[in-house]
Amino acid sequence: MQNYSYNNPEALKSLIDPARVHRDVYVREEIFKLEMERIWGQAWIYVGHESQVRSAGDYLTTTIGLTPVIMVRDMNGRDINVLVNRCGHRGAQVCEARNGRADGIFKCPYHGWTYRTDGALRSQPSPAGYRDVGFDAGATDFGMPRVARTGQYRGFVFASLSATGPDLADFLGDMRETIDNMVDRAPEGAVEVTGKTCHRFRHPVNWKFFTENLHDAMHPMVAHAGTSDAVRQYKEQLAPDHDPLPEAEVIAPFGGSYDFFDEMGFVGLPHGHGYMGGGISIFSHYQVYPDYLEAMEQAYGRERTEEILSFNRHNGLIYPSCTIRDNIQSVRVVIPVSVNETIIESWTFRLKGAPPNMLERTLRYSRLINSPASMVGPDDLDCYIRIQESAEAGAIEWIDMHRHYGREQRDGDKVRATGTSDMVLRNQYAAWLEYIT
Ligand code: FES
Repeated sequence: MQNYSYNNPEALKSLIDPARVHRDVYVREEIFKLEMERIWGQAWIYVGHESQVRSAGDYLTTTIGLTPVIMVRDMNGRDINVLVNRCGHRGAQVCEARNGRADGIFKCPYHGWTYRTDGALRSQPSPAGYRDVGFDAGATDFGMPRVARTGQYRGFVFASLSATGPDLADFLGDMRETIDNMVDRAPEGAVEVTGKTCHRFRHPVNWKFFTENLHDAMHPMVAHAGTSDAVRQYKEQLAPDHDPLPEAEVIAPFGGSYDFFDEMGFVGLPHGHGYMGGGISIFSHYQVYPDYLEAMEQAYGRERTEEILSFNRHNGLIYPSCTIRDNIQSVRVVIPVSVNETIIESWTFRLKGAPPNMLERTLRYSRLINSPASMVGPDDLDCYIRIQESAEAGAIEWIDMHRHYGREQRDGDKVRATGTSDMVLRNQYAAWLEYIT
């Protein structure tokens, strides 16, 4: 059995051929540990949105890789801190709730040490026991440490466990335009997360199956045929003067042809990021609600509104941690748990100043496509499980990604390819290899 470790870079390189990936990247514990350190411990990871911590003391807990963190609005009401969610005493996780308000204090449930919202140690019970024993209450070790770097782009909060590496703007690169478009679609120029919860979807598979599938345009017309065929048949039997249910608008594009997805195209970016579409996408034929159009034109004027609404990207991936569908205001977050377990969270956003029908469509999309009980997501999961099980059993050695190999075109730091090209996968693995080695 191959030995994968820091001091064996050649073994790590041997996992990625130009057009195929070795099964060990999905099944070996030591590879998962290296990913947590070298990818999730280096990259900027999406943590949450500023609207989730609107007031002083508001907090949200999540993880960066396997490291538990708290995103909290400082008591000064201005700063957003991202702290490691562990006690400086013996390391217990301090805050278990998914979100809430700290009233300025986090209290460890074990021995009662308390912390301020900037992570500094505030108090310990019976403090005399710590006097003149060489204990420094001001030392960072005894607080809840801030992660190495925290940054925001238009309200989206990212954090990195690494003090070095590109700054957030450079890391996001062209993916800033996807975030811009999501925010610009709001007549008031701002978005907010709806509610305090999301769809949490447990995937008993390696996290990379999800990021790969985002841009895999060869599967929708096969894996989702049951649902999209049913919608097509339903529309065919409708009387000409009968409008289809709004659900049909959401599901029908998942039965698009190979030509349609080819035309949509794929753009690969540095750091493993990428997106489909640009000119057309699965959202191209969504109706534009007249009251929404009116609100947009009042806010931006006709020309700028047209520019914003014709920006048709699909599934913008900010590798490795989140994917943004700006057109439908949905953000999905990747939370790796172990080598064969991943949580996918789907958060929905409201466009400020938009009429309620826009949020209704966002929620409809999330329910039909992203939720664990949806009509599309479980199809994908079933396929991931089939590959995971094959890889674990050793039934397959190499996972293929040859389609349209060598036919991509370089355009500065971008790589362009036809939509059904496996370039969508190769771009992620080029970044993976760079991080890992
Ligand atoms: Fe937190 Fe002891 S582990 S107070």
